[in-house]
Amino acid sequence: MAQALRNASRKDAAVGQEVLDRVQAVLESGLSDLSRPSVTLAYAQSFDGCISEGPGMSTAISNRESQVLTHELRAIHDALLVGVNTVIVDDPRLNVRLASGPNPIPVIVDSNLRIPVDVRLLKTVEPRPLVVATRGACEEKQAALVDRGAEVLCVDAAADGSVDLDSLLLSLGERGVRSLMIEGGAKIITSVLAADLADQLVLTISPQFLGGMRSVESLAGRGCDHRPELADVFCRRIGSDLVVQGEFLRSAHARR
Ligand SMILES: NC(=O)c1ccc[n+]([C@@H]2O[C@H](COP(=O)([O-])OP(=O)(O)OC[C@H]3O[C@@H](n4cnc5c(N)ncnc54)[C@H](OP(=O)(O)O)[C@@H]3O)[C@@H](O)[C@H]2O)c1
Repeated sequence: MAQALRNASRKDAAVGQEVLDRVQAVLESGLSDLSRPSVTLAYAQSFDGCISEGPGMSTAISNRESQVLTHELRAIHDALLVGVNTVIVDDPRLNVRLASGPNPIPVIVDSNLRIPVDVRLLKTVEPRPLVVATRGACEEKQAALVDRGAEVLCVDAAADGSVDLDSLLLSLGERGVRSLMIEGGAKIITSVLAADLADQLVLTISPQFLGGMRSVESLAGRGCDHRPELADVFCRRIGSDLVVQGEFLRSAHARR
């Protein structure tokens, strides 16, 4: 039995390494474009495509082996982005704890600075979290966040008033960020897919049904004139989860 468990964990480690190698290859292929970071969309969902049990609910979805892989992925990216709702709901630390390697820069998109000043990631010493708002965001809140150790970056607003992700990617590129991992939640994933900004996907699928909040909202009416599609899809079991990695077609074509 003990031998079977050791073999199983060796097998999971090998799958994890294969995923990391594939992700790294895509990251390196994007290094010639220094104007914006290479974007990896990486999140966990249930069999029925849910990211949590419902709005405002924090739901542990992936198993230990996939969580380790997530932390290894964090360690090979320069920055790690989430939406402000994820910070409010999950209070994540956005650092590397289950693997070894450097912490990425935490990036929170938060148009109107709704982020509470007492969240855990603002206590992170290194690297300094970057809170991204739209121009004209409350100056008092900006000062309070800087006081708590964050940096506030104001960028252009998109037509709906949210952070314009294209402008953000360019600003991150100017700061030397070459690789960006985006973990969620659903609104951010949807915006990234609709704007065709992701280069690759690492999706963990847990064999359970949540009947909750969908990972991807409707793309209709978002000016999305394409159907996001992956090329060269890799799929393996990791523990009881499935892990899927692939490069988005736009990115794959741009390389050829
Ligand atoms: N399973 C997983 O892997 C995973 C990972 C992360 C999160 N989650 C879950 O996801 C849920 C939160 O997801 P969510 O969809 O409610 O929110 P979210 O994507 O975490 O954050 C969305 C918020 O970010 C702000 N934002 C600013 N610019 C944006 C842009 N260009 N596009 C989209 N949003 C922008 C908006 O607030 P303002 O308008 O105020 O700026 C928006 O409401 C939680 O339940 C969390 O537990 C799951």
